[in-house]
Amino acid sequence: MCGIVGYVGPRNLANVILVGLERLEYRGYDSCGIAAIDGGLTIRKTAGRLQRLKEMLATSPVTGNLGVGHTRWATHGKVTDENAHPFTGCYGRMALVHNGIIENYRELRQRLSAEGHRFVSETDTETIVHLIESHHKQDLVTAVRKAAAELVGSYAIVVVSADEPDRLVAMKVGSPLVIGQGEGEHVIASDAQALVGIARRMVPMHDGDVAVVTRKSLELTDASGKRLRRQFAAIELKPKALSKGRYQHFMRKEIFEQPQVIADSIEHRFRDRRVMLDPEFLLYPDEVEKVARVVIQACGTSYHAGLVGRYYFEKFCRIPVSVEISSELRTSEFIYDGDTLMIPISQSGETADTLAALREAGARDIHSLAVLNTKRSSIDRESNSTVYIHAGPEIGVASTKAYTAEILTLLSLALYFARVRKTMPDDRFDDIVHHCRELPSQMRKALALDARIKATAERLAKAHDFLFLGRGINYPSALEGALKLKEVAYVHATGLPAGEMKHGPIALIAENVPVIGIVPRDSVYDKMISNLAESKARKGFIIAIGTEGDDSLKELADTVFTVPAAPEYLMPLLVAVPLQLFAYHSAVIRGCDVDKPRNLAKSVTVE
Ligand code: AGP
Repeated sequence: MCGIVGYVGPRNLANVILVGLERLEYRGYDSCGIAAIDGGLTIRKTAGRLQRLKEMLATSPVTGNLGVGHTRWATHGKVTDENAHPFTGCYGRMALVHNGIIENYRELRQRLSAEGHRFVSETDTETIVHLIESHHKQDLVTAVRKAAAELVGSYAIVVVSADEPDRLVAMKVGSPLVIGQGEGEHVIASDAQALVGIARRMVPMHDGDVAVVTRKSLELTDASGKRLRRQFAAIELKPKALSKGRYQHFMRKEIFEQPQVIADSIEHRFRDRRVMLDPEFLLYPDEVEKVARVVIQACGTSYHAGLVGRYYFEKFCRIPVSVEISSELRTSEFIYDGDTLMIPISQSGETADTLAALREAGARDIHSLAVLNTKRSSIDRESNSTVYIHAGPEIGVASTKAYTAEILTLLSLALYFARVRKTMPDDRFDDIVHHCRELPSQMRKALALDARIKATAERLAKAHDFLFLGRGINYPSALEGALKLKEVAYVHATGLPAGEMKHGPIALIAENVPVIGIVPRDSVYDKMISNLAESKARKGFIIAIGTEGDDSLKELADTVFTVPAAPEYLMPLLVAVPLQLFAYHSAVIRGCDVDKPRNLAKSVTVE
């Protein structure tokens, strides 16, 4: 999941590349580099964060107005200067950056070594540039096409050559690439955020596309060289959306954006007793009526949102739902058929496992209805229908506002289905919409817990091995709370269905082991209280997240956080806020890099 930026135009190359890489750093940040066509070819690259590259360029600048940059998430090869991109080949005339995995790189490397190519890195990427060199008899684009014909795997590559100093050549199979067009300039990047402020419009590359880009021209062809006509789209992102503003971290900004995101989504969705879906929703009412089962599939936080979504479809539509982890679904027997609806959920729209499972559905003619935050992403393009969560760009690697926006979108979908399938009378629908409209102010009240949550995170700054317990619709909340803490604070945490404690995990409870129980006043309240009491009896340190006004929790828990009372089906949106804040403060207190946690990347485009 690396970040790629290529540029040709009148601007200062280093500035454009560095700003673009900054915006893509969330995709990978263990090493970085830049290659400039400056009459020849100059490469600067280093292990470490972008700041190191900036320092390198300050003392040893590059010139020119055409080149490529890269920020890496290591797959093959350790984090070293030699393994950083860009890579050049034997003759030092071309440079290449890559996002993806080349599965047959070892045999290609052996063959090329036997032909006299010398490799300096442990990466799969370096094989590509040597392979292109081995085919480089006439022009660069022909050599790229011939080399690509031998590659197995996923790759987004951008290549430049001192022998063709006016152009960039790019190819995309599996990993994302978009091209932005400005006035006499073009940017090629892993996602649209790197285009903002330069390009006025953009075109996403499709698998197999080859692009040749100069200052004034953009030629898109397929692998055979046949010209392609692709639809341009306006760039909706604004630079402000990509800055932290007054917040210390993107994660904190995005946690605090949630009430507005939810308010906008409710405004956008519910009008005149109807659920308004996006134009890309292409299921006819009779097709909605025919859906016999739903399979939701996603990864990480999006999977947790899917577990909440299951309750909505079963409760409001009486449709049986299975919720699958994408990487497991794609290798399963996949015994679904035509009257199944697949719902892939993804913030980035580029998660390789979710995309792979989606393709399994496509091969079986199963209608796919994606729930996404990123338009024109690969999952968007390959799904039959899409409903967008409209959360705005989410930069922090830890997903927060996308999680609650995905949940609300799944609720909206379930309500739409219920209305079409006539399982939802008007008064019930009105009641649900009424309670949804109260969510933004309730989330703001939950955000007001911030200082107290910070104090609890400080008190537990040395604790490890947290247990998060929830039941029913808040079992996913427990999973999500644990994942947040793991990924930003590097603390081992387990989310469990509370009813499972007695079947083994209660053995983990010892003095002061922190147990975070999600215990709103709902249909499983009494059972949750019993679970927490059992942990308390074994001297666990109990933190309860409950309903405002529930004073009885103080007798049981060492610390109590309460959120406003809301119907059971909306509680996951409210309890998410203290869980996110707890993870956030724990990460800051522990000195972790909140927005770019170690070993992670925002968009997992490799399998
Ligand atoms: C969530 O905080 C993580 N960053 C990760 O689990 C993420 O939810 C997962 O990789 C799925 O990403 P997607 O929603 O973009 O498909």
